[in-house]
Amino acid sequence: MRTTVLIVAAGSGSRLQAGIPKAMVTLGDGHTMLEHCLDSVVAARDAGAIELNAIAVVVPGDPDYAASLGEVCHAFAARTAVTVQTVPGGAERADSVRAGLAAVRKLAGPAGPAGSAGSAGGPFGRHALLVHDAARPFVPPAVFSAVVTALESGTAAVVPAVEVVDTIKTVAGAAPEVVTGTLQRTQLRAVQTPQGFDLTSLEAAHRLAEEGAGGAAALTDDAMAMEAAGHRVGVVAGDPLGFKITTQLDLMMANALLASGTS
Ligand code: C5P
Repeated sequence: MRTTVLIVAAGSGSRLQAGIPKAMVTLGDGHTMLEHCLDSVVAARDAGAIELNAIAVVVPGDPDYAASLGEVCHAFAARTAVTVQTVPGGAERADSVRAGLAAVRKLAGPAGPAGSAGSAGGPFGRHALLVHDAARPFVPPAVFSAVVTALESGTAAVVPAVEVVDTIKTVAGAAPEVVTGTLQRTQLRAVQTPQGFDLTSLEAAHRLAEEGAGGAAALTDDAMAMEAAGHRVGVVAGDPLGFKITTQLDLMMANALLASGTS
């Protein structure tokens, strides 16, 4: 199934406190988070996990940062012969995804007319889209493969997920907060990326979310838009290496993994 990958790399990374956008942060081996993320996509292609059409990378709106990440993308494209297009992002992750979707549609080709065999994603059939966080640099090919395999079986949305190790409680009130409930841990999953979608369905779901009460800003991932649009979202096995680098502790873990040769 022809697959376009949308990498969102426009976040400021305020929780990492690096002073530059997170995707530009250099890991212990001298390569940026975005380079690692791009390399993981090509590793998945080379392992036969995805039939890669192209990659769209959403970069920060700031021209200097955009130019810097643009250079990373250019060098990657020259090295791998993969088509890579950059597009400026927005204030929230969902804004960045929506900006990226417009670029992805151009890379994927037009959707077929409503009701035609190709209307699910392009004139030649469904087109798979993987939406992926640049801040998850080490996702193994098996996760890409599981996501795409689920899409090929006909599901319109699929997420990789891992079990939750902590007990999760709901809280309320001003500090000091009080616990209002405890969620059943066996029913909880921590959801990662890449999340896989039928492209046309995700475009429609994001349009719907934008028009909805909370707006698209309330979306912390793209599967939420699909859930709200009434789609069944499938779950496949994620991987501990699919963790997101958010804090300095995550960065230390990433560098320890690189130093140990695990990634
Ligand atoms: O902020 P968070 O860690 O949830 O970001 C997840 C991913 O979304 C990161 O790769 C980040 O670069 C991206 N993002 C974005 N545009 C934003 C916010 C986050 O592309 N406005």
